[in-house]
Order: sequence, then structure tokens, then C-alpha cells
Amino acid sequence: MLDLNTIQSAVDTAHRDFGQAPGGANADYIPFLANIPSDLSAVAVVTAQGDILSAGDIHYRFAIESISKVCTLALALEDWGAEAVQQKIGADATGMPFNSVMALELHGGKPLSPLVNAGAIASASLIKAKNTEDRWSRILSMQRKLGSAHIKLSAQLNESEQTTNFHNRAIAWLLYSAGYLYCDPMEACDVYTRQCSTLLTTVELATMGATLATGGLNPVSKEQVLSANNTPRILADMTMEGLYDTSGDWAYTVGLPGKSGVGGGILAVVPGVMGIAAFSPPLDEVGNSVRGQKMVASIANTLGYNLYKS
Ligand code: DON
Repeated sequence: MLDLNTIQSAVDTAHRDFGQAPGGANADYIPFLANIPSDLSAVAVVTAQGDILSAGDIHYRFAIESISKVCTLALALEDWGAEAVQQKIGADATGMPFNSVMALELHGGKPLSPLVNAGAIASASLIKAKNTEDRWSRILSMQRKLGSAHIKLSAQLNESEQTTNFHNRAIAWLLYSAGYLYCDPMEACDVYTRQCSTLLTTVELATMGATLATGGLNPVSKEQVLSANNTPRILADMTMEGLYDTSGDWAYTVGLPGKSGVGGGILAVVPGVMGIAAFSPPLDEVGNSVRGQKMVASIANTLGYNLYKS
């Protein structure tokens, strides 16, 4: 295990070198996100022992967006088990944009991955729940257990998403018509939209990664929040589809399971060792934070972590 000074130095270097790297633009199809200051940036590591190392705008709470898909997948796995989730949603890359309708059409309506919008709406619909509020509260509770009790819904962001999410509503109905949705389609889309509309800090995001790194034991709260059998499934899904169309490039250059969100967050997991998270709003053309990818890659590279290294 590396000493904490070495990790802090890697975190500081990543932020210094890439915290203001040029390129990319804020997501603007969700109006709330278009107005977030683009120069914000932060990076954090949470180790499997619960040590926290960070740099930059670490108190800023940003939109979780697609990273929420990991938390809902975790809950679907707890509720249904790995085989059922693979059969009902899938575990493959789509090779297409995160909200692709064509990907659905090409596979008989099966979402293929729980980490694209279609698969995440299907995951939300799988959660065992008495009603909409129960479904939402179980999903929020999983975000809090994996990350921190301070994670909460932004009413303003949720309003911004709920009033513009027509494409996702269409996806929900397509899933339903193909037999790949497991509750009322508009309930699934509503709850999925809420799960994307929570705010968290970069340290809370890195804590999620650390919890996935330790087989489901949150090293900060010390609570076992997932079955250890499920975390390898989640990390495999992250490897295949965590950065959408460029998941292969990420595996090739960084070699760690990752997950991005259009709020500018990005998470990577070093199994058994740590979660690495970064945040900065400008995105590349597929929807991954430009600076976030560079900061996470820099830390992994400096510390020598790559799953495919012998
Ligand atoms: O459903 C959407 O389009 C957004 N709420 C989340 C998409 C997202 O974060 C994709 N990520 N890179």
C-alpha cells in the first residue's frame, strides 16, 4: 500500500496539471447544467481504509447524472441477483451514444447495459417497490449508503430535467413495448430522472468508488452496503460501458473501471485499493468530462494502477 503523502502528491499534481485543461463544453440539453461555472474542478481519492485525499473545489456539490446508474444497478443486483439482471438488462457495450434509440432497435429492444439511459430506466423499473415514492426513496438511500448521507435531490435540477426529458420518455415507452420494462413506464422515467438530479461532492463520489473497491464495505461509514458478490458485476459493467462510446479507449489508456456523468463527474475504481473521482463541467463529444478524465488518468498513471498490468 502506498503512503498517504505519495497519494496526496499525485492528487495535487493531477489538479495542477489538468484542473484547467482546455477543451469541451458544459452539457446544455439540461438547462441547469449549462449554467454551472465551467472553471470549477476538483479531484479526490478515498482509500479502502477510508483515508481521504483531495484538491480543488472539493466542497462544490455537482449533479450526479449518469453516475447514479451505478447505484441503481447495485440495488437491482441486490434485489434480483446477477443472473436476472444480465437476462433482463444485459452486460454488454452498445458502442453507441448513451441515449441511443438505434441501439435498442438493433437488439430487439434489450438495453444491453444498465449504464446507458435505456438500461438505467429498466434498472429503476426493476427495483422492488410499493409505489413511486418507495422506489425513489430506496434508490436515494442506496446513493447515500454508497457515497454519503449528505447526498440529496436538487429540486431545481430535477425540475430542469423533468421538463426536458422527452427523449428518455420515448425510450421508456420503447422498452415497455419490447417487454424490457418492469413497472409503469412514466414512473420508471420519473424516478430515473430524479436519481440523476442529486448533488454530491467529489469526495462523496470517490467514497462510492472506494465502496465498490472494497466489495461493498463503505470505508468511511464502515457499513457493509452491498453483497461482495455483486461488486465484480458492477465493475465489469463499468468497464464495458462506463464511458459510453469511448469505454474501450478508457480501458486501453487507463485500465480501470470508470463511470462518467454529464454533470462533469467521473469515477474510477482500483479494486481492493481506492476510488478516484474528479469533477469539472466541460464535456467531450460523447459526454465525458475532459478535465475529469485527464485528472483521474494522471493519478492512476502516477500511482501505477492499471488492472491489465502484470
Ligand atoms: O438522462 C440523461 O440524459 C441525463 N440525466 C444523464 C445522462 C448522462 O449523464 C450521460 N453521461 N455522461
